[in-house]
Amino acid sequence: MLEGKNVNLRLVEKEDLPPFVEWFNKPEVTGEYNPLHQMSKTDAEKILETPNELKPFIIEKKDGSKVGFIAHFYVLHVAGRQLEIGYSLVPNERGKGYCSEAVKIMVDYLFLSKDIGRIQAQTDPRNVGSQKVLEKAGFKKEGILRKNFFTRGEWRDAYLYSTLREEWKEPKILTRTEKK
Ligand SMILES: CC(C)(COP(=O)(O)OP(=O)(O)OC[C@H]1O[C@@H](n2cnc3c(N)ncnc32)[C@H](O)[C@@H]1OP(=O)(O)O)[C@@H](O)C(=O)NCCC(=O)NCCS
Repeated sequence: MLEGKNVNLRLVEKEDLPPFVEWFNKPEVTGEYNPLHQMSKTDAEKILETPNELKPFIIEKKDGSKVGFIAHFYVLHVAGRQLEIGYSLVPNERGKGYCSEAVKIMVDYLFLSKDIGRIQAQTDPRNVGSQKVLEKAGFKKEGILRKNFFTRGEWRDAYLYSTLREEWKEPKILTRTEKK
């Protein structure tokens, strides 16, 4: 469990799979700027077989209610791999600062636990909320990936954001001596 002030991040468990599948398949939750993915229950069960260090996290409020998820994954790059993050909150829990906190916790966790120099994220140029979340967590906009992916019948651009270990410097929410 990664503990923040208002939210915790907890690895996905078996009991989280039904809401996880529902969220993933609902455009209201993944939002108008994410690709329209479909996930079957069988696909979701495979998540439990993923090594813990690559499992998605459920974002939970302090009372244990689930408000969304945040994931990290490797994307192929010609010179190796890049670590990227993605996230979504259920509509009625947005605008309360939960995602900003979740991303800060995730950045702390990844820089504290992995020997990586950079974390990246992509977001639709129209997704102002997501850009604010990233900037509040110290990410900088690198540029635009033109016609980056095809969804909903059209090619879409994406802003590429990143944060570097030397910019992060110190954990913002987690500590170096987490007991949990
Ligand atoms: C984008 C998203 C993750 C933001 O999560 P959130 O918990 O609502 O974000 P926060 O409450 O931490 O807000 C961070 C800042 O963005 C602002 N913000 C949030 N949504 C906004 C929106 N739709 N338009 C403009 N600003 C917005 C907040 O006011 C806040 O600004 P402030 O700190 O200056 O007050 C959420 O809207 C979501 O799940 N959207 C659908 C999925 C998605 O787009 N995921 C990201 C794909 S890259």
